[in-house]
Amino acid sequence: MKAAALSALPAWQLPALAADQPARAGEKPKIALIGCGGMGKGDARNAARFGTVVAVCDVDANRAAEAAKQNGNARQYTDFRKLLDTEKDLSVVINATPDHWHTLVNLAAIKAGKDVYSEKPLTLTIDEGKRLVAAVKAHKRVLQTGSQQRSDKLFRQACLLVRSGRLGKLHTVTSALPAGLRAGPFKSVDIPAGLDWDMWQGQAPATAYVPERCFTNFRFWLDYSGGTLTDWGAHHNDIVLWAINQTGPSSIEGKRLAEPVPGGYTAPSEYEITYGYQGGLKHICKSTTASTIFGGRPDKPVPRHLMDHGVKFEGSDGWLFVTRGKIEASKPEILGDKPSPQEQGVQVSDDHMANFFDCVATRKAPICDAETGHRSVSVCHLGGIALRLGRKLTWDPSREEFTNDAEANTHLAREQRKPWTYDIA
Ligand SMILES: NC(=O)c1ccc[n+]([C@@H]2O[C@H](COP(=O)([O-])OP(=O)(O)OC[C@H]3O[C@@H](n4cnc5c(N)ncnc54)[C@H](O)[C@@H]3O)[C@@H](O)[C@H]2O)c1
Repeated sequence: MKAAALSALPAWQLPALAADQPARAGEKPKIALIGCGGMGKGDARNAARFGTVVAVCDVDANRAAEAAKQNGNARQYTDFRKLLDTEKDLSVVINATPDHWHTLVNLAAIKAGKDVYSEKPLTLTIDEGKRLVAAVKAHKRVLQTGSQQRSDKLFRQACLLVRSGRLGKLHTVTSALPAGLRAGPFKSVDIPAGLDWDMWQGQAPATAYVPERCFTNFRFWLDYSGGTLTDWGAHHNDIVLWAINQTGPSSIEGKRLAEPVPGGYTAPSEYEITYGYQGGLKHICKSTTASTIFGGRPDKPVPRHLMDHGVKFEGSDGWLFVTRGKIEASKPEILGDKPSPQEQGVQVSDDHMANFFDCVATRKAPICDAETGHRSVSVCHLGGIALRLGRKLTWDPSREEFTNDAEANTHLAREQRKPWTYDIA
């Protein structure tokens, strides 16, 4: 699959680096990039508006070398622990590793006193999110989650209209996510030169090298990710929580609509999940049909008009649909309203990376801080657990536990492969 056909829509996610956006006066923050794939390289370009990328790290030495070249011959590493040990005057880490590495790298960077721009989905499990939130607080660090729809004016407009009651009593929210890949079985081959496959796998179970597990397609394997439910859910379910102003659902029920191919990708490809929230609000999170094309034709870019993923809010006085580059409502006058962000308690950011660097300077919480990123991906993880168990679950968002359900609570964390533990320094 081509990177361009994934959730990464390069033109959207990589704002043009305008020449009229010079670095700040005074010393520029020193930045390290950990994870030099498509997103990491884009994030580093984006961050270079505000600081200097002095070091790069990837478990694939070829990728580290390429990123170093792109960033003015930055120093190269293949082990992030060595980077953090050596680069003492760093202030910022950009973490664009695959999802199963986010928390370990984030914890190590935070303990080393760095501020972090971490790619979404913020965690692999709900337990990881609790650990991360505690560490950010204890070490007084700034962490921005890369769910950049929070810094987009159309998503903010939708959030403000919903929060201000413009749709009347909200009863249903639907987040439609692209369907995932359903393919396999795959063959193992020799490990490519330069790649430390054991380190790439990290805390995940060890397997023979299969190209479809590594680089980009890792998101379709439960060992490393949660499928499009977490990959895209970390964007659209994040908008749901922002607009409804709640920390999580109280019930979750879901079904897989397609079984995985034996020996192939393991994450749910097509699914429908129903969440219940306080006040009787129903939230349906489902894979879209248009994106079956996305899954079935990985060699072809998806035509823009077929990407019908997004979030629909329905209330007693009308509905609103928002996605990247588009907002629609049942009545045009709904969109004419301009609720005040201050009155609705909504932070305003029009540039996600700029918001992060502002907060690095001011020590304020960024628009998608650790708690926010953790809560948004928790919605996705809860959906994944409900799909796995195949029954209705009851969740207590304040305790962050399933109620009277010992079996479900075992799914809040995962076993880590030795020697990896969260006590990483
Ligand atoms: N915000 C967005 O819109 C957006 C879009 C695309 C991807 N992403 C996120 O960015 C992350 C990376 O995605 P990608 O598509 O660039 O994947 P990728 O596979 O192309 O890149 C990940 C890189 O990390 C490296 N890596 C793995 N383990 C490492 C470790 N322990 N230390 C250092 N490097 C390590 C890999 O070798 C690879 O080069 C994912 O979490 C993904 O969800 C976010």
